[in-house]
Formats: sequence, structure tokens, C-alpha cells
Amino acid sequence: MIKNPIDAAVRRRFTAPLLEWYHSLGRDLPWRRTDDPYCIWLSEIMLQQTQVVTALPYYHRFLETFPTIKALASADLEAVLKLWQGLGYYARARHLHRAAQILVSQFSAKMPESFESVIALPGIGRSTAGAILTIAHGKCHPILDGNVRRVLCRFFAIERDPREKSVDAWLWHCSEMLMPKHNASHYLQAIMDLGATVCVPKQPSCTRCPVEKSCAARKKGLETLLPIRAPSKKVPHYDYFAGVLCVDNAVLIRRRPLKGLLAGLWEFPGERVAENSKQGSIVLAYERFFREHLGLDTCECKPYMTIQHVFTHFKMTLHVFLHHSKKRVEAVFPFDWVERETLSERPFSSAHQKIVLQLTQKQNQGELF
Ligand code: ADE
Repeated sequence: MIKNPIDAAVRRRFTAPLLEWYHSLGRDLPWRRTDDPYCIWLSEIMLQQTQVVTALPYYHRFLETFPTIKALASADLEAVLKLWQGLGYYARARHLHRAAQILVSQFSAKMPESFESVIALPGIGRSTAGAILTIAHGKCHPILDGNVRRVLCRFFAIERDPREKSVDAWLWHCSEMLMPKHNASHYLQAIMDLGATVCVPKQPSCTRCPVEKSCAARKKGLETLLPIRAPSKKVPHYDYFAGVLCVDNAVLIRRRPLKGLLAGLWEFPGERVAENSKQGSIVLAYERFFREHLGLDTCECKPYMTIQHVFTHFKMTLHVFLHHSKKRVEAVFPFDWVERETLSERPFSSAHQKIVLQLTQKQNQGELF
């Protein structure tokens, strides 16, 4: 992709006003008040797919529970997932935990200072490695996350899809060329803040922007049309069922495999319903599931609740049934029987957490189930 070079004049028009803006209007965030690479790494991982306001309470709770890399490395994965519950994209928590173990075994429990070693850690790509090294270790590496990509596409009025290989390569080049050698850390955080608070996706606040006057998209009236977005795909919808099988005060739960969607989280047993099933056949599918997996042949289940949930790639309606039994079937891993009051100690996905909340609320109200 051919564009005008990023020369000193461009840098002056972009970098200087941005830094000035950041010094008076940048956000005061807890990971900006520390130079502990562990805290900075944690914040970068949490902020990969999550907005600052959502990440903040998780960040504090996480550090209270696991204040050091060593503490995180020696924790159970389940305890880490429990703290991550509700934040989504759980692979981040698994990678963080695994990376902490690598840091303890190979790097004396410290975040290394070489780009190659940082990017080799699980869950760390080029942009996150750049952010960690620049912010925590005072190095100078570019980043290109969604916010930065948007800012650059607008500032330079890139009228092509930023996912095209040559455009992506140019944006990386541009991100690198714009970085000041001094103050690189503040510069990175300034461009992140600009993308998150001013140059936002739908209605950018251009009048508050420190680089409005030099923004090519603004000059051309393209600020809301850039970056070019891929046409949105229709998200498929699937029905799932899950059963709350209870015997006395205990319920049966199952742990998800350690690979794939919601890996390692607990859930109430069930599965996806074959497409085009009606409510009647959902019950049949439910009965077949419990017969085949747990040998339960009589099944008196009743509808308990219905949950709608949106994942990145599909929408789900989860049909939850309540199902009493007199005797506990044997629970072999990944199944487990748990007392209702200890359910909330396990990490569940957001959809199944709603079932846990309903069960615990009923219990607190003195109802059996
Ligand atoms: N997004 C990603 N990293 C960030 C940071 N350090 N501060 C604010 N937003 C961010």
C-alpha cells in the first residue's frame, strides 16, 4: 500500500498535540500508577477484549487474590477462572495462568525484557507484547489494537479495509514511525485513550480531538465511515438445553473440556438441540441425553427457566429444566455432585451463572428448588 511517508512534519502534527492532550485529559487508571510489569501485563490482557469500566473491578480483585506472578502460577486454574467469571474470553485467563508458570520456571518469576521472549508467552500477540514492553520496561515498540487502528485509519483517511494484508502492514509501519523515542509509554497510552474516549467507533467527538485539524477523514467528512468495516454476517441462533438434576440439596454439574469454547468452566449438563426442534422434541432430546450419559431412564423434568445469550459467533437460547431424582447417579469426572450452597464457589459461564443465581436466590428465600 502506497501512502505519503510518515515524516517529521506528520509526527509534529500528530504526536505533539496528542501527548499534550494526554497530559491534561488522559485517564487516571490504576495500572498507570504502577511500574510493576505484572500489573501492566494483567491490565493489557484484561483490556484486549474488554472496556476499562468493566475490567476495573476484575483488575482489583485479581491482584488482591494473586498479588504476584508466583501467587498466580501456584494457584489452581479453577480459582483463576472463578475470578475471571463474567469477563468472557476465558482463554485469556488460561493463558495468563500458563504464562505465569512459564515465567516462574524460566524467567525467575519476572516479565522478560526481550520482545521475542514476551511474544512467545501464551496469550500475548504483537500488539500486547509492544504495550507491555513499552509501558512496563520503557522500550519503544508499536501497537496496533482496534482503537489504534481506528485512529490511524481516520487520521490518514485510509479508504481500504484495514484487514487487507498490505493495509495492515502499512498501519504497523505507520504506528512505529509515529512513536516518539522519548515518552513512548505516554504516547501509547495517549493513542489508546484517544481511540477509547474520543475517536470512538460510532459517533466520534471530533470537536474534542487534539488532532482534529490535521485529521484527513475529518477534512473529507469521512470520520463516521472509516475505518471500512466488513459487512456484518448474520449470526446463527442455536437452542441448547441444560438440566438441573437435584437429589436432596445436591445438584449435578459437569466441567467443560480444557480446550474450546468456555474451556474448564462448569455448567449444568446438556447439549445443543438439533436444528428446527420444537419444544416437545427438546424434551425428548433432554431425556435421551440423561439416559445416555447418566443412565437415568425415568425423567420427570419441568421447565425451569429460559436464558438468552449472545456469544461472538452465535446466539443461544438455553432451555433449562429442573429434574428431581431420589438417588444420586454415580458422578464420574467431568460430572460432580455439589451442595447447592457451594455452587457459587465454582466458575460457571455467564449463561449458567444465571441458573446458579436463580438456585441460590430460591434457597435464600427458603424454597427447596
Ligand atoms: N487498552 C489497552 N491497553 C490500555 C491501557 N494501558 N490503557 C487504556 N486502555 C487500554
